[in-house]
Amino acid sequence: MSKDAFSSLMSSTDPAVVVVTTAADGEQAGCLVGFHTQSSIEAERYCFWLSKANHTYRVSLRSTHLAIHFLTAGDLAVAERFGTLTGEETNKFSGITIDTVESGVPLLRAVPNRLVVERTTMLDDGGDHVGITARVASAVTTGPFTPLRLSDVGHLNAGRDSEERAIYP
Ligand SMILES: Cc1cc2nc3c(=O)[nH]c(=O)nc-3n(C[C@H](O)[C@H](O)[C@H](O)COP(=O)(O)O)c2cc1C
Repeated sequence: MSKDAFSSLMSSTDPAVVVVTTAADGEQAGCLVGFHTQSSIEAERYCFWLSKANHTYRVSLRSTHLAIHFLTAGDLAVAERFGTLTGEETNKFSGITIDTVESGVPLLRAVPNRLVVERTTMLDDGGDHVGITARVASAVTTGPFTPLRLSDVGHLNAGRDSEERAIYP
């Protein structure tokens, strides 16, 4: 199998992108995520994959809850902020309005279609991302929307290269 074929197959699916946020011990984190999906109907489960290089992954190791924000076609600036900056160097939540839920997870007020989830498992299969499966604690929506898709954000340069690794857990 060629790497090109794998990459072509994956980009042809053109997934919607989301912003995953979390917090632990007062430290907030969040990043743009393209690897995510529903994984059970009853019980409601959601799963997503975080790069081992990301500040968000490092914080998620100590957090219990996370929020999945579903971006709409008009949310390119949000994708840019959360996908091209790293919490290792910048406070991405500075200058934007957030609400916090129990466990301190920051919710982006400008992105009202979202889930709050409780982590149930974390799987490291040796790849550069770690899989998280989670129980859906709450779901909120303003109604049907047109998602921001991978093809809309493919020009963005990720704030952390997936070949990097967190240097401290
Ligand atoms: C189009 C696109 C898709 C991305 N998908 C993921 C993903 O599925 N999982 C992930 O952990 N990072 C993903 N990233 C990378 C992070 O969003 C990016 O490196 C971010 O700056 C990390 O921020 P942090 O270090 O504050 O966590 C993606 C970035 C882009 C531009």
